[in-house]
This record gives sequence, structure tokens and C-alpha cells, in this order.
Amino acid sequence: MNNSVPIQESEARIPQSNIARVYDWNAPVYDIWGTLTESKARERAIELAEIRDGLTIFEVAVGTGLAFEEIVRRNPHGKNTGIDLSEGMLARARKRLQPYENAYFTLAKGSAFDLPAASSTIDILFNNYMFDLMTPADIDRALDEFRRVLKPGARLVLVNMTKGEQPGSSLYERIYRLFPALLGGCRGVMLSERLQEHGFTVVTREYRQQMLFPSEIILATKAG
Ligand SMILES: C[S@@+](CC[C@H](N)C(=O)[O-])C[C@H]1O[C@@H](n2cnc3c(N)ncnc32)[C@H](O)[C@@H]1O
Repeated sequence: MNNSVPIQESEARIPQSNIARVYDWNAPVYDIWGTLTESKARERAIELAEIRDGLTIFEVAVGTGLAFEEIVRRNPHGKNTGIDLSEGMLARARKRLQPYENAYFTLAKGSAFDLPAASSTIDILFNNYMFDLMTPADIDRALDEFRRVLKPGARLVLVNMTKGEQPGSSLYERIYRLFPALLGGCRGVMLSERLQEHGFTVVTREYRQQMLFPSEIILATKAG
């Protein structure tokens, strides 16, 4: 094993068939990780999305609802849908959203490859820290599905673990090499080019590093 060679996008080490099990197992501690290392990137994603009340918003891989709570809070009269493969993560999201019972939202088990939405019906699609655990072929499949459900010109807001740009960030590559499940299977990806290949226009791509953990935040629109 050569530790100086960066982890490649082809090195997704947890197959999709194991993801629900890994995240059911991670669910009880996920919020500690998600708050310490990812909260700044998640907050920036919400800002970039410019949510107005009344929109149709979808969050794919909603996890424990760390972003979804803020989405529903800003869009209580719109239509909010969150899906995830892991029932353990969803159970925590349902609990987090209990105070918002008067808002319009649904949380359900579902896959990024087969979204429960008609074509061209979504105003904003959020997806945080999911592509960084997928193979390139699965990334392509999910991006095609995202494109299908978004309205022309609609916004896609993504956050992912990315390649480190500042000192210290290689720590997580070292952890991934030894214990990929400890990072929930996530390794750094850079998605701007791939988005363009799938018919999206990248409006902005920003880098955030928190507790040495490197994230990219991308705002893209569905090209007409
Ligand atoms: C690292 S967690 C991120 C959770 C949440 N988005 C957040 O930022 O806190 C990754 C999540 O992606 C979900 N996931 C992975 N592959 C998926 C797929 N194909 N469809 C739906 N959810 C998926 C996992 O179950 C897990 O909850």
C-alpha cells in the first residue's frame, strides 16, 4: 500500500448493498461527527440554496435530518421530502422533525437511483455527503436521476468530502485506507466536471475545512 498516492474516486470501499447496515450502525453517533466536522459546509449549502417558502424541495440521503430541519423551517408551506436507505438514520430524522408537525414534509426509505418524484417537478434538490461513498458508475446513475426530477433551471446543492487543499486534511485519507467504515465509506471527490457532463451548470464551488475535514459545496442548475 502506497500512502503517498491520493485515494482515487474508483476506490469506494463500501458497496451500496452494505450502506444501510453501515449507517444503521453509525446512526447513534452520527450527529457528533456531523456537527464537529461538517456543520459549516452544511450551513453554507443552505445559504447558497436561497430557500423561499412554498417551494418543492427534495433531500436525497437525508441522514439524521441535520440539514432537513433547516430546510423545513425555511419552507413550512412548501413540499419537503427526505429519503434515505438507512432506517436507523431516518428514525433520528423523524425524531428531530417532531417539533415541525404542522409543516409539510415526508421522510421515507428510498434510493437515490429511483426517486419517488415525477420528472421536472423539483425546485431544489439537496444531497450532502453521499457521492463521496459511491463508485463512479453509481455517481453517474444518481446524477441522471437528479436531472430527471429537477425542473429546468432548478437548483442542485451538493456537499461532499473532497480532496484536501489545506494542511492537515490528509489525515482522513490515512484513516480511510485503514478503516473505511469508520468514515462511513467516504473519501474525497471533486464533482464539478462530472456535473457538467450530466447537463448541469456549476454556479459556484467552494471549499471548507473543519477539524481538518475537507468539504466541497457546489451550487449547480439544471441546464435547459
Ligand atoms: C455520510 S451520511 C450523510 C447524511 C446526511 N446527508 C448529512 O449530511 O448529515 C450518508 C448517507 O447517505 C445515505 N445513502 C447512501 N447511499 C444512498 C442511496 N443510494 N440512496 C439514498 N441514501 C443513500 C446513507 O444511508 C447515509 O444516511
